[in-house]
Amino acid sequence: MNAETDPVLPTVSVTPIDELNPNERALVGAALAATATAYAPYSRFHVGATLLFADGSRHSGANFENVSYGLSLCAETVAIASASSAGRLHEIVAIAIAAVGELEAAVTGDFIAPCGRCRQVLAEAVTICGHDIEVLMLSRDGQRVRKTTARALLPLAFGL
Ligand code: THU
Repeated sequence: MNAETDPVLPTVSVTPIDELNPNERALVGAALAATATAYAPYSRFHVGATLLFADGSRHSGANFENVSYGLSLCAETVAIASASSAGRLHEIVAIAIAAVGELEAAVTGDFIAPCGRCRQVLAEAVTICGHDIEVLMLSRDGQRVRKTTARALLPLAFGL
C-alpha cells in the first residue's frame, strides 16, 4: 500500500513547493540554506533542519559527522539540542528538513526523512511543547514537500 494513502498515516500529504504558504516556504528555504553548514566529510550528504518557534523566529542545525561514523549527529538532533540549550525547546511548532549531496535516492528515498533516533528526539520535544510538531520534508529535486507531524512519524512512541 502506498504510504501516502495509508489510513494509518492520515496526516501525510505532498505539496508542490510553490503551493506552500510563505511561512512554510521560508522555513524550507532556511533548511536548505542550513545544508551549507553541515560537517559531512564522510557521507558528503549535507542535511539542514530548521525549527520554527511560536513567535515566528527560526533556529537551524546541520548534520555533524565523526570519523567513528556511528557517532555522527543528524541535523534534526543538532537543531533540537541547540534549541534546548537556548531554552526554547517548548516553543517549537514546526521543523523543516532538506538535504543536498551524493547519496543516491535509492538509499535516501525521494524525501529526506528523519531517522528513528531523530523521531524519538522529536517525540521528546512534543512532550515538552505539549502539542504536536509539524514536519516538512523537502524532496530531492527541491520541488515538493511532504508534510506530516512528529506524532504521525512515531506511532505508539515511548514517552508519548
Ligand atoms: N542525516 C541527517 O542529518 N538527518 C536525516 O534525517 C537523515 C540522515 C545525516 C546523518 C549522516 O551524517 C548523513 O545524513 C548520511 O546518513
